[in-house]
Amino acid sequence: MKKFIIGNWKMNLNVHEASLFATKLAQDVPIKRGVETVICPSSLALSPLSLQINHRQMKLGAQNCYWRDEGAFTGEIAAAQLRGLAQYVLVGHSERRHIFDEDDREIRFKVQAALRNGLTPVLCVGETETERGEGDTAHVLGDQIVSGLLNVGSDQIDDVLIAYEPVWAIGSGRTPEPNEIEEAVKMIRSQIGHMFGRNAATSVPVLYGGSVNLANAESILRAKGVSGLLIGGASLIAPEFAGMVQIAADVLKEEKDG
Ligand code: 13P
Repeated sequence: MKKFIIGNWKMNLNVHEASLFATKLAQDVPIKRGVETVICPSSLALSPLSLQINHRQMKLGAQNCYWRDEGAFTGEIAAAQLRGLAQYVLVGHSERRHIFDEDDREIRFKVQAALRNGLTPVLCVGETETERGEGDTAHVLGDQIVSGLLNVGSDQIDDVLIAYEPVWAIGSGRTPEPNEIEEAVKMIRSQIGHMFGRNAATSVPVLYGGSVNLANAESILRAKGVSGLLIGGASLIAPEFAGMVQIAADVLKEEKDG
């Protein structure tokens, strides 16, 4: 099964800096069969980068979108407008949920807008530290998956990626143990199984995100059920990001060689 290495640049790098950084990545990132490398720069940089990058080496993702296709929505960017510029779009990232108060309904509409416009949504889910402490992780993840994928058809589920990002691990330098990641990913897959059947439960890619770096990438990528990484801070360091693409390729090769 394919591996995904996705870099979320968040609100970093202006258009010029993004272009310079993409030049560095072009030198460092290996092209590996079975590994999909995606960078998510600011929306402003999507257009220039779409002309600059080698699309065999990496793809582009947006960090957010609005769910209406057009109209009087000052300041928003429609999934329809990302079409042709990005192939992926992050939906329901923890920062969107918690800083910008995005709710489950809006997130669901965004998943649908992405699919309607030929983009692959990366639906981000994850529990807060309090929720984890109260033993609510399974419940929270289940709800976020059900709600986010509510109107997704069984013919569309193959075009969806899930990212498990525990809120407390994002930008904190703390990560769950690999067995805790396995457990959460299992919960997510089981919920997808309830909704879309057993095949979907195993085939939908589930990525892990939250304080991933070159040092912990391998153990996380080896965790059962993990299909890739969603990387924040470390995706802005070219050799780290490139190194993680290489690790994903190595892990994939080992899995294939069995
Ligand atoms: P960090 O890797 O910086 O913790 O960010 C994770 C993240 O939010 C990726 O979407």
